[in-house]
Amino acid sequence: MNTKKKIAVLISGGGTNLQALLDAWKAGALPLAEITCVVSNRKKAYGLERARQAGVEALYLPTTRFADREEYHLALRDLLWERQIDLVVLAGYLVVLGKPLIDAFEGRIINIHPSLIPSFCGDGFYGLKVHEEVLRRGVKVTGATVHFVDHGTDTGPIILQKAVSVQQGDTPEILQKRVMEQAEWKLLPEAVRLFTEDRLVIQNHTVWIKEEESR
Ligand code: GRF
Repeated sequence: MNTKKKIAVLISGGGTNLQALLDAWKAGALPLAEITCVVSNRKKAYGLERARQAGVEALYLPTTRFADREEYHLALRDLLWERQIDLVVLAGYLVVLGKPLIDAFEGRIINIHPSLIPSFCGDGFYGLKVHEEVLRRGVKVTGATVHFVDHGTDTGPIILQKAVSVQQGDTPEILQKRVMEQAEWKLLPEAVRLFTEDRLVIQNHTVWIKEEESR
């Protein structure tokens, strides 16, 4: 029988993806998940407030508290270990993860990226910049991707993707909102649900989704 998996969500900003997860969890759509804590490297990240309002532990861990990035990531790793976290969700977390953390949670860290990887991803592609580049290039379809995190930037095995159309007159802000509403806020809870149900299998850098077991 499946037991509940403890989840930590790492954020740096507004936390609308975190909110989508919290809403799905509170609505009973993630019965095998326990959202244990939310960690932010920014004190003013509104996501911390969202966590508090949901009764979830909200932790502020600034990189400046540590001598260097390695020390920071060791502290973050220990914090996650202490809470026996099973899955780390990066939801708009703008610190590049260090090796000790990635190694400690191999196959157990997922990230949401606001484009169809491998387009518009990698170093420098974050936030509105992604949507600005999408508009500059004139592609007609963009979207979002949830993937496992490995040592590269946005290079890990892809779990779920959803396409979103680009429309005439879009600004980066309008497109960002459409990608969030139509793709990100749906994909992230779905990926977490699949992980907690032990249904994600990584084989040769490809993720296969196992059939749901009949109950
Ligand atoms: C989202 O677009 C997500 O894909 C990206 O960062 C943004 C975070 O937004 N990784 P929010 O803080 O969840 O509102």
